[in-house]
Amino acid sequence: MLKNDLLLRAARGEQTERTPVWLMRQAGRILPEYRALRGRLSGFKELVETPELAAEVTIQPVDALDVDAAIIFSDILVVPEAMGLTYEMVEARGPLFPTTIRSAQDVANLRVADPEEHLGYVLEAIRITKRALHGRVPLIGFAGAPWTILAYMVEGHGSKTFSKARRLLYTDPQLAHILLRKITDTTIAYLKAQVEAGANLIQVFDSWAGILPPAHYREFSTRYITEICEALPDVPVTVFAKGAFFALSDFAQLDCQTIGLDWNQDPRDVRSLIGDAKTLQGNLDPCALYGTREQVQQATLDMLRQFGPHRHIANLGHGVYPDTDPDNVRVFIETIKEFSTLAREEQL
Ligand code: CP3
Repeated sequence: MLKNDLLLRAARGEQTERTPVWLMRQAGRILPEYRALRGRLSGFKELVETPELAAEVTIQPVDALDVDAAIIFSDILVVPEAMGLTYEMVEARGPLFPTTIRSAQDVANLRVADPEEHLGYVLEAIRITKRALHGRVPLIGFAGAPWTILAYMVEGHGSKTFSKARRLLYTDPQLAHILLRKITDTTIAYLKAQVEAGANLIQVFDSWAGILPPAHYREFSTRYITEICEALPDVPVTVFAKGAFFALSDFAQLDCQTIGLDWNQDPRDVRSLIGDAKTLQGNLDPCALYGTREQVQQATLDMLRQFGPHRHIANLGHGVYPDTDPDNVRVFIETIKEFSTLAREEQL
């Protein structure tokens, strides 16, 4: 049914003619057509909550960049909102929760969301996108990892330290677990519904993994990610935990197909910790795309050599920065396609 299923085959460890490539945050401000559409709307949330428009911007990078996957245009923060905690996206500043989680009562007031009732607009965007894609490329669904969602719900906004969220893990670990339980239950139901609506692969974003000590990460994050992976037997799952180098040997045991690497990680080190039974995704430094065309090509080739041809999905080590020149993104993508094809043919 899919004309291009490189991403899914690479995730499952099957042979591919070349390395598949997509970019985290490929749908967004790097594309002039996104900025034009976004400029006509009241804000980010209108785009996220209008399924036809979300579908349109989901497909923009497939047309404009020729990537091997689409990722549904949404945000990880739709989950806390579905649970009863509304977010705002403040222009040029980022997310803000006017009300945050402070007490056992606050946690008790949250609901385990019903995907169709509270997140129906995302599911509808997935259905529309699938129809409009006509099987050109797979569609990636996603959610935040429970720890990262807790971090925003307790902190209320982005932070360098997330000290309010981390403080909770010391002062009231039991309450943290009650909250993580509710987030995990919501997330599992939501991701299953995304798969039912047509998502071909699921990525879990643990953007704030790197701020926890290893023991806390194991207790408050990995165990919930483990549950999420086990709840999704029908599609490949990718776990991207930024900064979680200390968790890699635990990740080797996860029931998932792919581990995402940020740009601080050496692909060869990660391969030796994870073994050959998983695919690795990543991990060019997004800043490498600020170089000249030749520099972008060189950095991309270096990255490809570090991963080797098998079980690799090419990507950046985090989301593409909004002021990146789309032409350099195209150089990154073309270099991967050309070199990885050659490498297969000539066993480079
Ligand atoms: O192309 C894609 O990757 C799909 C869309 C997507 C968005 N957010 C759209 C978005 C995805 C996968 C996300 C995930 C997300 N959102 C994460 C996890 C990935 C990561 O970056 O670590 C996190 C932590 C968030 C929360 C969030 N949303 C922040 C911190 C911000 C502000 C920073 C920024 O980039 O502006 C957002 C806003 C956001 N989410 C934008 C987009 C396109 C920009 C807002 C706009 O266009 O006005």
